Amino acid sequence: MRKEDEITKAFKWVEKNLGQVHILINNAGVAKEGLLSNGDTEAWRNTFDVNVMGLCIATREAVKSMTANNINGHIIHINSVAGHKVVYFPGINVYTASKHAVTALAETLRHEFLARGSKIKITSVSPGFVISEMTTLNTGYSPERQKMLKSQPILKPEDIADAVCYVLSTPETVQSVKMVLSLSRWMGKVAIVTGASSGIGAAIADALVANGVIVAGLARRSERIQERAKKLQGKLHAIRTDMRKEDEIIKAFKWVEKNLGQVHILINNAGVSTESFLANGDTEAWRNIFDVNVMGLCIATREAVKSMTTNDINGHIVHISSIAGHKIVNVPGINAYTASKHAVTALAGTLRNEFLTLGSKIKITSVSPGLVISEMTTLGTGYSAERQEMMKSQPILKPEDVADAVCYALSTPENVEINELTITPVGERI
Ligand SMILES: NC(=O)c1ccc[n+]([C@@H]2O[C@H](COP(=O)([O-])OP(=O)(O)OC[C@H]3O[C@@H](n4cnc5c(N)ncnc54)[C@H](OP(=O)(O)O)[C@@H]3O)[C@@H](O)[C@H]2O)c1
Repeated sequence: MRKEDEITKAFKWVEKNLGQVHILINNAGVAKEGLLSNGDTEAWRNTFDVNVMGLCIATREAVKSMTANNINGHIIHINSVAGHKVVYFPGINVYTASKHAVTALAETLRHEFLARGSKIKITSVSPGFVISEMTTLNTGYSPERQKMLKSQPILKPEDIADAVCYVLSTPETVQSVKMVLSLSRWMGKVAIVTGASSGIGAAIADALVANGVIVAGLARRSERIQERAKKLQGKLHAIRTDMRKEDEIIKAFKWVEKNLGQVHILINNAGVSTESFLANGDTEAWRNIFDVNVMGLCIATREAVKSMTTNDINGHIVHISSIAGHKIVNVPGINAYTASKHAVTALAGTLRNEFLTLGSKIKITSVSPGLVISEMTTLGTGYSAERQEMMKSQPILKPEDVADAVCYALSTPENVEINELTITPVGERI
């Protein structure tokens, strides 16, 4: 992968002997140990040549081929957690830089596709430590690095392969989804889904019930959940709860524990997004957004963690965040909402740190959708003409696409934690 002529030759051979390229997995990579203060120039060059330049060249050849043959293909970069944060691990400086470059190259390629109206998908999959010759199977590392590697929990290569298969199995319109693993681990166990009366929460509750999970759906309009429960084969229970009211949340958890059983899964989905401007907005609308999206989520999370910890359950908590939890999207009037979702991103990360400190095996996943059809978006009637126009002009996900993403995160083995799953409609511009 350091030699351009060999890469282009390989692509030509494939096209001639196997057929047109539909999928490219940019996986080749190296991570040589070395300090910036006294490292080896050739080792640095080697890291960049394989991890970045090789990836760029292979990507170009794949895009050329897909475009020439009118193929809506899929390109996946095997990135790393080191592509998103500078991990405290001396000796992986240039590797970290190369993976940050990969993060940028995935996003800039997505922009290129948008600009030229291409439907090719690009996904970045970012694992933590994985058993391989780059880590525990390598004998050439310093004793410090070997010791550090041995002290860490670690993924199997198959866990990453599962993530890649999941991403490849998503519908053509979705940048990431369709369950490839089973939810059998959770069959007969209890899940609480907040905001289960419409949109994404309803789709998640229904998907969990379809997979044999006992679901308690919380919302103010509990009659809507009851209506769906009648039609579903499995077990869906409606609990009227206002997520702004601590006593109602606590009462709902108590009811679930007493009547359905111990809580194994919490899906923090309830959310509101009232249109308003910071310059002249309504205080109560802002307070409502923070009360539901942040405080309600915090209270429900605390109750779930208390219950899971007391009952020694390695449960799973999923926050339904948003792309607005990670970047400031240019949609006027979603200021307090954006702030609330940034808070959710922080609350997922800080909860993970808490679990580490406590030695807890509870998992926490943040699922961040782009635009989804729901009462919060295209089905809402109370929006300004500008916002309605903006939403209509965008490609959009179905609530079921997000439910699939949640099911995938829940279906991973006990030792695998999906930290963040960003899922957008192909071609999203916001
Ligand atoms: N739609 C999108 O484009 C999009 C994109 C990214 C993230 N999200 C996130 O996805 C989640 C679900 O949104 P959605 O699109 O499915 O919207 P939705 O159809 O409007 O559903 C919102 C849900 O939240 C519940 N809720 C709101 N206020 C509540 C309160 N005070 N107490 C209890 N429940 C309350 C609603 O139930 P009741 O009204 O019956 O109480 C409803 O079930 C939200 O967290 C949202 O931020 C949505």
